[in-house]
Amino acid sequence: MDKKTFYITTPIYYPSDKLHIGHCYCTVATDAIARYKRLRGYDVMFLTGTDEHGQKIEERAKAAGVTPQQFVDNIVTGDHGVLDLWKLMNISNDRFIRTTDDYHVESIQKIFRKMYEKGDIYKGAYKGKYCTPCESFWTESQLVDGKCPDCGREVHDAEEEAYFFRLSKYAKPVQELLESGEFLEPASRVNEMVNNFIKPGLEDLCVSRTSFTWGIPVDFDPGHVVYVWVDALFNYCSALGFLNDKYHDYDRYWPADVHIVGKEIVRFHSIIWPAMLMSMGLPLPKKVYGHGWLVIDGGKMSKSKGNVVDPYVLAEKFGVDALRFFLLRSFPFGTDGNFSNELLISTINTDLANDLGNLVSRTTAMAEKYFGGTLPEAREADPLDDELVAMIRETASRYAAQMDKYQLHLALEEVFKLIQRANKYIDETAPWVLARDEAKKPRLATVLYNLLEALRVSLTMLTPFMPDSCAKAFAQIGADEAAQSWDKAGEYGVLPAAVSVRKGETLFPRIDMVKAIEELEAMKTPAGPQVKIEPVLPDVTIDDFAKCDMRVCKVLACENVKKSEKLLKFTLDDGSGTERQILSGIAKFYQPEELVGKTVVAILNLPPRKMMGQLSCGMLLSAVREVDGKEELHLLMLDDSVPAGSRLC
Ligand code: MSP
Repeated sequence: MDKKTFYITTPIYYPSDKLHIGHCYCTVATDAIARYKRLRGYDVMFLTGTDEHGQKIEERAKAAGVTPQQFVDNIVTGDHGVLDLWKLMNISNDRFIRTTDDYHVESIQKIFRKMYEKGDIYKGAYKGKYCTPCESFWTESQLVDGKCPDCGREVHDAEEEAYFFRLSKYAKPVQELLESGEFLEPASRVNEMVNNFIKPGLEDLCVSRTSFTWGIPVDFDPGHVVYVWVDALFNYCSALGFLNDKYHDYDRYWPADVHIVGKEIVRFHSIIWPAMLMSMGLPLPKKVYGHGWLVIDGGKMSKSKGNVVDPYVLAEKFGVDALRFFLLRSFPFGTDGNFSNELLISTINTDLANDLGNLVSRTTAMAEKYFGGTLPEAREADPLDDELVAMIRETASRYAAQMDKYQLHLALEEVFKLIQRANKYIDETAPWVLARDEAKKPRLATVLYNLLEALRVSLTMLTPFMPDSCAKAFAQIGADEAAQSWDKAGEYGVLPAAVSVRKGETLFPRIDMVKAIEELEAMKTPAGPQVKIEPVLPDVTIDDFAKCDMRVCKVLACENVKKSEKLLKFTLDDGSGTERQILSGIAKFYQPEELVGKTVVAILNLPPRKMMGQLSCGMLLSAVREVDGKEELHLLMLDDSVPAGSRLC
């Protein structure tokens, strides 16, 4: 009989920046679920990938002076890129999709056309506030003081031709889907979606853009590129070969069993996504699970917080499995969790070094010390064993009940109850006392066997979370592959009576909290000011440059222009023998009197311009940049020994 399939996805990541530990949260969680399902015998398809189109990427590439494709290639396949990171974190994805892959582009063009031919995508006009120099549309609420949020200049009402998806048509079936109770979890997110987005009225969604080009062209109207979320969401189907020839397992895996997504993109996955699938006449995913964020001091994580959130630094310092475990053990999956290094270290020390690590090392050390590593077959049971043996038999089903609801932290809680019970059993049975009496050897063997059995089932359940460490621990406790299987996780008496153990390396060394924190603090890269540097403009010829007549001028007089907050009026000696008047919008940066006598630079051959009724014959040169969203300006000043009239060349 064919195995039951299980299709699970993570969001596909924007490669606009290197990923931080918050990004790992979602993928590690999805990986643990995928590994658990494989353990349960499912035929699993685990998909992840990168979402590479859109204006943001186009702008980042421009700023970096490379093409958008080069830009994303570097972040996806480059050193310490997305692929490297998933390798480091031991992510077991079966497929990786990049939305710039040809087969995906082909699917999206066909999907867009199908919805258009059905009448669910139509051509309309996108209305908004337009900033001409930035070529950007803004909504009223995005404006800053009524001006363009990017450059601070005036915007005007404008319309742009665009395609729209009839989202409004699907409001009712989507609401019914959400309220059916099965589709979106945790349940709290259902009310949020229905009350905040559906009840106020769903508007049709603008699904094409003409203001930038880094996207999938609409094949029947090539001036338009497909809206990045339409492009991104359908990755879940194109990656299986839907409307392309690259893969052929759409029928096998679709519909997805679960999309694991962060809370801020639940809206896209639970409203827009099912509506588009309904339009395409495709089956809907069975579940969308919206997890919370990892936050730092209550605020969203970002790269500017420095090395503390760099997964490479944390994995190097604490180990990949410890990091994976920490992410899923410490925070309820559905809500936000406050990340801190203190919590990370104390979780490792308490759960892994003390509880699990000690149980492995004490048990194997005692088996070696008292029996040379191989237990004798003689046994002597005691009522003291009953509770532990019952837990060995029962924990797996309790764990599975939580795993099946994606309550990963509660599943781990069940495992740790068993581990803690086993540690208490060591204190209760005091094997070191039994070891002193030859007649108690059968009892001692029973105690150690029970501990090994507790470890065996615990390790089976922990394998999806810490695959490498569990494999090492299985080898130490003498569990072969069959003994590691899920089928045996609810049984007692699986290890052979004469089991042989081998004490090995310490799995989870204890971490010196004070020292580790000090080291991490020392590595912290200060956030520093956020400086925005404009990209280098396209090349000009030397002849073009030579057309600008830039001269050194001496400031003879300087005063504020009446009724203007911005303008200063300069009277300059430009070396020609006649005075020159230039107006400059730098009043908020300088007091006029501090500039008198200074040696400045001006372009002289700009056409004269009237401002506030005064003539300006040229322009003073300044150095400008944006720091933390504010403009910084320095009027260009030269050494006073440079004579007026000298040309800049
Ligand atoms: N490209 C979209 C997803 C398209 S899916 C069809 C996107 N990308 S993202 O890179 O911005 O985010 C990817 C995932 O990382 C999201 O689920 C997001 O919630 C998650 N996280 C980003 N920062 C996070 C934390 N600090 N904590 C937990 N998850 C976080 O959205």
